[in-house]
Amino acid sequence: MKVLTLLLCLAQFWGCQAAPHLPGLVYRELNCDDPETEQAALVAVDYINDHLLGGYKHTLNQIDKVKVWPRRPMGEVFELEIDTLETTCYVRDPTPLANCTVRQLTEHAVEGDCDFQVLKQDGQFTVLFAKCHSSPDSAEDVRKVCPQCGLLAPMNDTKVVHAVDVALTAFNTQSNGSYFQLVEISRAQHVPLPPSTYVEFAVAATDCVAKEVTDPAKCNLLAEKQYGFCKATLTEKVGGEDVAVTCTLFQTQPVPPQLQPDGTEMSNPTSVADSALPPPPQADPPVAALVVGPVVATAPQASLPGHRAHYDLRHAFMGVASVESASGEASHMGKVPNVAQPSIVVAAGPMARPCPGRIRHFKI
Ligand SMILES: *[C@@H]1O[C@H](CO)[C@@H](O)[C@H](O)[C@H]1NC(C)=O
Ligand SMILES: *[C@@H]1O[C@H](CO)[C@@H](O)[C@H](O)[C@H]1NC(C)=O
Ligand SMILES: *[C@@H]1O[C@H](CO)[C@@H](O)[C@H](O)[C@H]1NC(C)=O
Repeated sequence: MKVLTLLLCLAQFWGCQAAPHLPGLVYRELNCDDPETEQAALVAVDYINDHLLGGYKHTLNQIDKVKVWPRRPMGEVFELEIDTLETTCYVRDPTPLANCTVRQLTEHAVEGDCDFQVLKQDGQFTVLFAKCHSSPDSAEDVRKVCPQCGLLAPMNDTKVVHAVDVALTAFNTQSNGSYFQLVEISRAQHVPLPPSTYVEFAVAATDCVAKEVTDPAKCNLLAEKQYGFCKATLTEKVGGEDVAVTCTLFQTQPVPPQLQPDGTEMSNPTSVADSALPPPPQADPPVAALVVGPVVATAPQASLPGHRAHYDLRHAFMGVASVESASGEASHMGKVPNVAQPSIVVAAGPMARPCPGRIRHFKI
């Protein structure tokens, strides 16, 4: 038995050695909480938020693993596994990530799980590869911390779509300026007591004047986009329904802030006058808010965004190559982890490296 095991190991060893990868390629181990690791991870998180097409900004929660590979002809590639958490900042909200509140467990938190390869060269970090997915906390876990809390509902749920229609109509009715169009439903929850539907959705200004709209289908989004983000609660009542909607309108879209070349930038000290968002429902100090209701619903159905209940990061990089293969080396690096046998190639450090790193918020 022992011999057989040994033989198998040897076979594996030779298989490994024969595999087509650079001989002598050894990775450097690094503490998951090392400032250099964290720098690479923060560049990765910025990359996620810069490429998200919808939903909410994510923030770093924990660095699970890190390996630093040498790269020819120069530089190093940080191979990272990170966990993120959804914040309450809509992706087009200009609030710096550092000021975004993490979505709490009672609000049905969402966790992201990402693999990244980040090149460090001349002190500059560049993302070479990104792969993420995300998932909401389990219903059991939410109920454990809060039995009465509403769970995430599918965004094409009839009641959810209805609540968004009513809320958007109510908002436009009160609008003195542009007619606002639905961009996306971002999340929704059925609240048991009182029976109501809580929704969050994004809107954008059109070239129509709200008071004069006859056919919303003829309105076009403005070239210089003005986005807004709305939170609304539709409460069912005997003989009708009440809607309370609060929308925060963002400044017309400026050129998004980008990473500094040295990658050391961690937050953008831009002067957006928006204090940290307290948890919903509708309790924030909005830039431009109005609360209206009750309103009779007659709005037509909005286009259905599908049956998912949250924005899966799996789709975050849709339309953007998830592998930015700037060079052949980059895709080569993508294969190294599968081939290398750490137990063989790693020069063991004097002691076990502390990975995974610290949890910044909470564990789901
Ligand atoms: C719309 O106009 C009314 C009446 O002039 C005003 O009271 C209200 O504040 C205005 N609403 C917005 C959102 O500017
Ligand atoms: C972000 O937070 C910092 C520190 O709390 C504060 O000084 C700054 O004004 C905030 N910025 C925004 C845009 O809220
Ligand atoms: C939501 O979408 C899914 C998949 O597209 C579909 O099967 C389901 O019937 C839809 N639900 C509603 C209420 O429209």
